[in-house]
Amino acid sequence: MLEKIEAVREFLKKRIGDFEPELLVVLGSGLSFFSENIEDPFVIDYKEIPHFPQSTVPGHAGKLIFGKAYGRKVMVMSGRFHLYEGYDPKDVALPVYVAKRLGACGALLTNAAGAINPFFKPGDIVLVKDIVNFMFRNPLRGPNDERIGPRFPDMSEAVDKGWVERVKERLGDIKEGVYIGVLGPSYETPAEIKAFSKLGADLVGMSTVPEVIAAKHCGMKVLVISCVTNMAAGISEKKLSHKEVIDTMKASQKKIEKAIAVALEVF
Ligand code: HPA
Repeated sequence: MLEKIEAVREFLKKRIGDFEPELLVVLGSGLSFFSENIEDPFVIDYKEIPHFPQSTVPGHAGKLIFGKAYGRKVMVMSGRFHLYEGYDPKDVALPVYVAKRLGACGALLTNAAGAINPFFKPGDIVLVKDIVNFMFRNPLRGPNDERIGPRFPDMSEAVDKGWVERVKERLGDIKEGVYIGVLGPSYETPAEIKAFSKLGADLVGMSTVPEVIAAKHCGMKVLVISCVTNMAAGISEKKLSHKEVIDTMKASQKKIEKAIAVALEVF
């Protein structure tokens, strides 16, 4: 793994010179519009980067962007990798480790999610306070490289409490919830959602969990912002579709942008 991380770092260094990102920002489905806020960007296509997976999902651009946003030096993934695309969890973890090797000590992960909590509604921005790994996959499976992180990383503070508190102070009445990550790509059945509710989950999605684990493994601070794009299966009568997810993300653009801006400012 370290060899791959180094190879990607070497490649990127040739493009970005001495630019050192402070934070990794991962943009979820339909959030590529955020890239327009990046000043003096270096834009690198995933296709050019050695060992990098490719985005295969509509709504994910497939570009790595370095630059300044809201006063922070960032490495932005416009387009993320999901396990349901067939990638190994280690492929999903690779960009996180690369960000850390380039100097980033924070990871701001965003996603689209279905609401299990009936008090949430489409368009809500939710700060994730903890995660449940229901993907039954872990990027750390296999031999561990202590140069990257410990064999048994502590996950008792998966998301950084201080960072969450600072965002809450600035955004006021923002909602909070537990995110359960599932493999997908089929949406859940109403019976599954009922079961997840009993497990304590407020939100469900098909991403983020592998990145959180990798970021914690290599010692980064994590914040997760979810945008509710739909009520989860059985919570409302409505059928689920990727189009609805993308449309709701578009409609919530301003609110998400504000939340990301604040999260960057208070990091
Ligand atoms: N389930 C899983 N993933 C999702 C959903 C959902 O309802 N909405 C957006 N991503």
